[in-house]
Amino acid sequence: MRIQNLIIPVAVSAAGLALSGNAMAETWKMALGDAAGGTQYELGSTFADLVEEKTDGEVTVELFPNGQLGSEQDTVNSASMGLLDLSVLAINNITPFSPTVGVMTLPYVIQGPEDARTLTQGAIGEELTENTIRDAGVRILGWAYSGCRRLTNSARPVAEPADLDGLNIRVPKNEIMISSYQAWGVNPSPLAWSETFTALQQGVVDGQDNPYITIDAMKFYEVQDHVTDSCYVFSMEPLIISEGKFQSLSPEMQELVLEAGQEATSHSYDYLLATESDIKRRLVEEHGMEITQPANNEQEWIDKATSIWPDFYDSIGGKEKLDADLAALGRDPA
Ligand code: MLT
Repeated sequence: MRIQNLIIPVAVSAAGLALSGNAMAETWKMALGDAAGGTQYELGSTFADLVEEKTDGEVTVELFPNGQLGSEQDTVNSASMGLLDLSVLAINNITPFSPTVGVMTLPYVIQGPEDARTLTQGAIGEELTENTIRDAGVRILGWAYSGCRRLTNSARPVAEPADLDGLNIRVPKNEIMISSYQAWGVNPSPLAWSETFTALQQGVVDGQDNPYITIDAMKFYEVQDHVTDSCYVFSMEPLIISEGKFQSLSPEMQELVLEAGQEATSHSYDYLLATESDIKRRLVEEHGMEITQPANNEQEWIDKATSIWPDFYDSIGGKEKLDADLAALGRDPA
């Protein structure tokens, strides 16, 4: 596995001969939206090492962190067109291409790592993969589990939705997340992930939300002082492969790549459980961030945000789809 830190134009996939049976070594390019060091990197580098090992070095995977190959949403287009082999990106940035994935970003559906695992594995996970192949031309090989998205800002402690008044909050270009903030009474600013750090640094926006691990990997503590310990969306980062690329592989190689994705996913789950609380502690003790608990066990946040669910029933595949996922999580229908 190699890490590429130079800024280069969108990469073109290496000629895919070796994996169709010819013994020619090749390098696959993997985009990462986040900096090296977070859950995307952990998933991507584990997958890269496994593929290299399983192919006896016939395939090397080169990682391009920090959005070097384009915004996360751009990388879906590139992979879909066969211009990029692999990408790890946040789930919210694939939803615009494959709307049924939106059920995973409906506020307060997924409440922790176990829920996330339930909705990404087995039959439910397979259906998601089929949908992204159909809608977006990319196949999900694995998942990084990154933790709850926490609201950060540079202005003041935020405990209840009214505290957001007057703050300009960056959100991903994702209709469900935009609507969640609107339900809390503010008009957020949709902005690509690759532009977020600079926008925070320059005060173009006052805040954003992402998991503790991502706040740390992206060094947001340099430009944000306050964190609200809320959990409206649980962030997951699919590892996707261009479906054209996948179909060009021999059946043995496809099997091997799927296996590497599964193994890297298990590693990612363990990594989250092993690191998140220590990272949270370091954000406070070493980087001076102040954590605020949401008022009244987050109830007002929950009530307002979940009121938007019906607006998205059609795009996620119907209320039945949400109810089936809630049932899988052992919860009541919507
Ligand atoms: C976003 O906020 O756009 C993403 O969640 C960022 C990420 O990929 O970590």
